[in-house]
Amino acid sequence: MARMAGFAYALIICIAIVPAYGEYYSERRHVPRREKVTHLHFFLHDILSGKNPTAVKVAGSNRTEGDKSPTPFGSVFAVDDPLRVGPEPDSKIVGNAQGLYLSSSQDYSKFTIMMYMDFAFTTGKFNGSSFGVFSRNPVSEAHREVAVVGGRGKFRMARGFAEIKSSYFNATNGDAILEYKVTLIHY
Ligand SMILES: *[C@@H]1O[C@H](CO)[C@@H](O)[C@H](O)[C@H]1NC(C)=O
Ligand SMILES: *[C@@H]1O[C@H](CO)[C@@H](O)[C@H](O)[C@H]1NC(C)=O
Ligand SMILES: *[C@@H]1O[C@H](CO)[C@@H](O)[C@H](O)[C@H]1NC(C)=O
Repeated sequence: MARMAGFAYALIICIAIVPAYGEYYSERRHVPRREKVTHLHFFLHDILSGKNPTAVKVAGSNRTEGDKSPTPFGSVFAVDDPLRVGPEPDSKIVGNAQGLYLSSSQDYSKFTIMMYMDFAFTTGKFNGSSFGVFSRNPVSEAHREVAVVGGRGKFRMARGFAEIKSSYFNATNGDAILEYKVTLIHY
């Protein structure tokens, strides 16, 4: 009997919380919250060579067949690059950058990529959080910056930029180790 009563009670609660599916939207006044500024510093290891590359070419143009460059204009790479605390290949991993980049300049003296990548952290305070880069990256320039356009987890609503310096670059095989200094504004 008590069980029956419990069941009936549960049923009533269920009915009570069934949402009204009258509209597909609802609105609330936006209450601005204090934003935080977070600085991040790490090294992205983008390795094209060897048995375990972290970036692989997934598409390219036949216009550039015979091109000796590891990254001819129009080639698209899928990446899962480790983010490490230092430039050494065995330094501690703190996250990974996954996504795509496109070799986007026809002018080889101005090697440029378009990045569509998500930088996620797997340790520390920001474990499970990530920020998104959707930006042009003029790789041939010594100092450059890319735009951060959003984020997940602790980086929800992030915006900001990342300053990039090449720590190592091999033009023959395309391997690169890049120092990132990121400034994020987020909730
Ligand atoms: C590239 O592919 C297109 C379409 O198949 C073809 O018409 C063109 O001749 C090819 N170009 C070269 C350089 O192979
Ligand atoms: C990071 O978060 C994952 C998922 O919550 C958890 O399994 C893992 O142990 C965490 N790693 C560290 C180093 O905190
Ligand atoms: C660059 O890569 C080529 C081909 O893998 C290799 O022979 C050469 O030693 C590398 N250069 C440097 C400076 O690491």
